[in-house]
Amino acid sequence: MRIRAERPEEVDEIRSLTTAAFRNLLYSSQTEAAIVDALRDAGALTISLVAVQDGGVVGHVAFSAVTISDGSNGWYGLGPVSVRPDRQRKGIGQALIHKGLELLQHIGAQGCVVLGDPGYYSRFGFRSDPRFRYADVPPEYFQCLGFTENLPRGEVSYHPGFGAS
Ligand SMILES: CC(C)(COP(=O)(O)OP(=O)(O)OC[C@H]1O[C@@H](n2cnc3c(N)ncnc32)[C@H](O)[C@@H]1OP(=O)(O)O)[C@@H](O)C(=O)NCCC(=O)NCCS
Repeated sequence: MRIRAERPEEVDEIRSLTTAAFRNLLYSSQTEAAIVDALRDAGALTISLVAVQDGGVVGHVAFSAVTISDGSNGWYGLGPVSVRPDRQRKGIGQALIHKGLELLQHIGAQGCVVLGDPGYYSRFGFRSDPRFRYADVPPEYFQCLGFTENLPRGEVSYHPGFGAS
């Protein structure tokens, strides 16, 4: 399995993969594929990595800039992240996320936030922190990972592409 940046010819594959990964998930808005497209179209897909296996895309992760109400810069949001249903729980998601977090640090990011299951994201160092708030999401599902000691404080907003449907 190889992890690398997405290529233009993989856009359709990423869309299908994302749709398949989130299909039937109760908490899904079923808009995740449209969100990835909207971020890309807006030039807001800061990091977009694919996992390639047997010549096909089997996983994808997106990172895009977020804003924080205290004016802090350099924070990013992880997601959507998708692994092809028949290849899940084999380490592909973890490999994509580790690589993405490493790249974020290389570009000088201050940290990353994620909305999702703490049981999964805590393994990467994500923690819920009262200094970060996101809409009316229960705090334990909104987690952050700072790359420096200075954690900002405030309400987090994702790129408008997250409103895509
Ligand atoms: C979530 C997802 C990206 C994880 O990728 P993956 O390649 O399947 O998972 P990995 O193999 O990297 O990690 C497996 C580990 O994570 C755990 N895990 C996988 N999905 C999980 C989930 N949704 N919640 C909690 N733990 C999860 C497994 O139990 C396993 O734990 P272990 O290592 O202690 O045995 C993938 O399952 C997926 O595409 N799911 C559907 C879409 C989705 O839910 N995306 C995330 C939205 S926040």
